[in-house]
Amino acid sequence: MMVFINNRFLPIEEAHISPFDRGFLFADGVYESIRTYNKKLFRYPDHLDRLKRSLNETRIEFKEIESIENIIYELMIKNDIEDEALAYLQISRGSAIPRTHSFPKKKISPSTFISVQNLKENTKEQTDGVKVILQEDVRWLRCDIKSTSLLPVVLASQKATEENAAEAILVRDGMITEGTHTNFFAIKNETIYTAPKSRFILEGITRKVVLELCERFKIDCREEFIVKDDLKSFDEFFITSTTKEITPVTSIDYWTINNGEPGKITKSLQAVFKKLAEDY
Ligand code: PDD
Repeated sequence: MMVFINNRFLPIEEAHISPFDRGFLFADGVYESIRTYNKKLFRYPDHLDRLKRSLNETRIEFKEIESIENIIYELMIKNDIEDEALAYLQISRGSAIPRTHSFPKKKISPSTFISVQNLKENTKEQTDGVKVILQEDVRWLRCDIKSTSLLPVVLASQKATEENAAEAILVRDGMITEGTHTNFFAIKNETIYTAPKSRFILEGITRKVVLELCERFKIDCREEFIVKDDLKSFDEFFITSTTKEITPVTSIDYWTINNGEPGKITKSLQAVFKKLAEDY
């Protein structure tokens, strides 16, 4: 496997990073996950905008941002990606000795890591739907930044795995925010609800596409918090992300929704999303 690390394409075995890298010591970094359809990076300008925003909010000065797209395409060639690709890129503040919590006094350059892998399609999850569990949202109050500081998410996601669930949906002060790595949607009386853009959620690119589709197809969609105690009054649920696309939720904790069948509106949204991806 060839990766891009600190300005060089290297086999993974030769790719090293300093133990003093602030990404390693403090999770002082940001990241993006981007996929292709028809071998073309999906909604790359949106991912780039979000990355710029994350860098800006964390005050990481990364100058070579415009070169990332070409590096990803180059990695797809170098790794003989046969079908579709999933790219992961991470930029940390860089490496400095001694370890200091505040930014190093001397100027350092950010560390960059980019990898590309064959994308595993999760068709079964998308057809059959998935189980999710509810977990308390104990993350920080800047979830709008795509930070590599993910320990609360790692623990919640592990809990989901141990309970044979595909995702943990996070609840803060009785409100559903989002999943550990997905956005969450609920449907009632043909109206779709999802948490509003705020410090409490990451503005997912797939979420954005779903909102655009709702507008195009005149489906009523409201960016409002879903109250945990009201969950049972909704008819359908789904989660979205770059890799999960639109995945129906068929059970939440011990509640099986609609006899375990993916909802009607969810299925029609999946169909229009699929068409959009196919034509991309
Ligand atoms: N996760 N919310 C959170 C907290 C996320 O980490 C993600 C993405 C999303 C969905 O965003 P998008 O539609 O842009 O993928 C929402 C990526 C896939 C990851 O962690 O690798």
